[in-house]
Amino acid sequence: MKVLTIVGARPQFIKAWPVGRALQAAGIVEHLVHSGQHYDDQMSQVFFDEMGIRAPDQNLEVGSGAHGAQTGRMLIALEQVMEAERPDWVLVYGDTNTTLAGAVAACKLHIPIAHVESGLRSFNRRMPEEHNRVLTDHCSSLLLCPTQTAVDNLAREGVTEGVHLVGDVMYDAVVHFGAVARARSQVLSRTEVQEGAYYLATIHRPYNTDDPDRLVGLLTALDQLDAPVVLPMHPRTHARLATHRRDGAFQQLRIIPPVGYLDMLRLEQGARAVVTDSGGVQKESYFFGVPCFTLRPETEWVETVQSGWNTLAGDDGAELSARVARWQRPTLPPPPFFGSGDAAVRIAALLTR
Ligand code: UD1
Ligand code: UDP
Repeated sequence: MKVLTIVGARPQFIKAWPVGRALQAAGIVEHLVHSGQHYDDQMSQVFFDEMGIRAPDQNLEVGSGAHGAQTGRMLIALEQVMEAERPDWVLVYGDTNTTLAGAVAACKLHIPIAHVESGLRSFNRRMPEEHNRVLTDHCSSLLLCPTQTAVDNLAREGVTEGVHLVGDVMYDAVVHFGAVARARSQVLSRTEVQEGAYYLATIHRPYNTDDPDRLVGLLTALDQLDAPVVLPMHPRTHARLATHRRDGAFQQLRIIPPVGYLDMLRLEQGARAVVTDSGGVQKESYFFGVPCFTLRPETEWVETVQSGWNTLAGDDGAELSARVARWQRPTLPPPPFFGSGDAAVRIAALLTR
């Protein structure tokens, strides 16, 4: 049994860690391909080093570009890899351009696709990820869902065969690395913040970064919070801020380069609250029982909102500090909607079945 795994963007390295381990334990041969969508050391290599993920068998080095150009370069290269490797399965993660290219290349060659994080929907077709998810799901044979909501979304689209509720592989990763981060990371002292006395923020969605007024408005709103805000800045946001040529004299913001996974988990654990437009960061805050404010009008992770631990703050941020001040801790800790930390083992079992 040979599985060809395709990763390329930061959250996919994290998701591939528990699955890679489970595949190995199940005796499955994994050929790991990195598309090269993310390539800065702090966006890629740091995860392989810190998490002990083995080096990819191939890096396609496609780099950045417009959606069509980037996805097209991946498609051409992946087709060649698949023809050479002839895997039994192609395994793709999430909803990036790397995911879509892997799915399209595989389905044209009639290689069955297993999609991890299948069935998520924002119902917002302005998001590039929404197209990537829908298209990938509709050509996958094994649809590996993290939540019941994802299973229900697929059923509404008429997809019921090959659908399995396995839990969330990001939760698997946090179960292991949460304690490691707490023990090892020095990020709080390095950034000169105290446990519970700062906010953590991340922004990288085009919806928030590409309009200069909106981006500067969000940074201004963060700056008005009542404690320092640590903001590890995604290169997209960094590039946009430079293009927008606004010098923000932000008093509270501690803008730092992207951090590694252990530092990020530690920053989430110690934050008074998290403000983000990231999918993964919404979930991790939830796993740690840290309130989250999501800078989007909707989320795929509806359970986090329904339980009261995540608040949609999708407007221009003007209300952010009032919302944060008004937030009331739910009476219940975050319910376990994301499985029990064995999603990867379930995935390996389904692949071998
Ligand atoms: C991509 C995914 C998004 C995911 C995010 C995770 C798509 C369409 N989007 O968004 O779903 O949430 O990854 O982080 O696939 N850049 C660098 N160095 C890097 C990587 C990117 O400088 O190592 C800069 C480039 O200017 C690039 C821009 O960031 O043009 C955007 O990168 P890209 O991978 O296209 O999209 P993300 O915003 O990272
Ligand atoms: N992350 C990280 N360093 C950072 C920002 C994020 O390690 O500086 C991790 C974060 O803990 C989570 C994942 O990257 O596991 C989320 O990725 P991102 O926000 O880039 O993408 P999304 O989840 O929105 O697709």
